[in-house]
Amino acid sequence: MVQSITGMEPSSKLYSRRRLVQENVEEDMELLKHLSELKTDASHYPHAKDIVGNIPVYSGPELLNLIYAGDSSREEIMDELHQCLFTGPGVLIIKEMMEPEMCVRAHEFMKTITPGIETSTHKRTPRFGEKQAKAKPEDYAGYYSNPILAMVCEAWLGLGYQITTQSNAIRAGSDQQEIHRDYHMSHWGDRCRQFPLATHVANQFLTLQCAIAHTPQPLTSGPTRFLPYSNHHPNGYLNIRRQEFKDFVKPRMSQMPLEVGDAAFFNPSTYHQPGVNEQDVHRAMNLFQVNSCMSRCMDTKDTAGMTKAIWPVLKQWHKEIQGSTGSGTERFVNGTKTERHPLELEALINATAEGYEYPINSDKEAPSPRVETDIVRTALREGWDDEKLYKMLDLSAARRLNA
Ligand SMILES: [Fe+2]
Repeated sequence: MVQSITGMEPSSKLYSRRRLVQENVEEDMELLKHLSELKTDASHYPHAKDIVGNIPVYSGPELLNLIYAGDSSREEIMDELHQCLFTGPGVLIIKEMMEPEMCVRAHEFMKTITPGIETSTHKRTPRFGEKQAKAKPEDYAGYYSNPILAMVCEAWLGLGYQITTQSNAIRAGSDQQEIHRDYHMSHWGDRCRQFPLATHVANQFLTLQCAIAHTPQPLTSGPTRFLPYSNHHPNGYLNIRRQEFKDFVKPRMSQMPLEVGDAAFFNPSTYHQPGVNEQDVHRAMNLFQVNSCMSRCMDTKDTAGMTKAIWPVLKQWHKEIQGSTGSGTERFVNGTKTERHPLELEALINATAEGYEYPINSDKEAPSPRVETDIVRTALREGWDDEKLYKMLDLSAARRLNA
């Protein structure tokens, strides 16, 4: 039998628009029951240290040691993570991914820029990364240079991904969100039926969702819960709006406590729901929406302004990696003396600068190189002064404006 790239027979009618107009709720429920009974096979995730509630759980320090070893480990791990998010349960946890001190500083910063947070049951600070980069560039750099974060983004989205973040704090008394899927299709509500079903399925490849714990998250604080394998439910954006599907999903979700610095990554098509915080102290986390360069971010982001803000840090780190300063190359990660790694510099550049050229106003003069990430790499390699870098970033940013 000839199989298409989707794994279906070329004549299959599964991805017809008709299914969205004439819903087949019984058949979809049967499929969801089947998906909810799947069990994660640990042999498919050899780099995971455990499987908890059907979700692979990784150790951040172990992954870091492997990818710093410089052999084929990074590619092998990326393949495993991609399979987990695509053909697997759609969600994974990385323990100790971020140094706790970085998360504590980020949360302290959130408190200083979020009016009323102390007395509020729920506060969300949009465009958090941009605000931190401009006000606390060294703290931002320490946080977003994480090579594991970069590896998961690349594993799911490839090159040119764009990171946006919103810091979130919830405590007892806040409203509970419904069980849902994430952007972008969920934004359309019931109108999502006007998109072809194949686009519903493709939606998962446009975004990677991530939450990094900034405060301890025991179960009583309501860490997010997931239904592993629900990412495989083709008509899920419509179905999860129905009460009978919510009732079925709710008792079958997996939830685990998180420590400061732990990260949960998930395919946006995975059914999930923040739990209820029964405590009077905030459960705080940084919510990532990482977009494919072929997608659109929910939040706008001043990539040129952020890049200028962290430019002194980038220059210093580049010198350290080149070994030209003769000092300052030593630091401590998880208690171990280590040196700044080139993957950290790459992670920071990719997390901050624009990595994709379009859309542009082609009438305007193009800098060389054209894309911000390449401009920064060239500037570091050739030792540009501040004035030249700023000019090239401004030219690149201006190409995105019609005026
Ligand atoms: Fe969500």
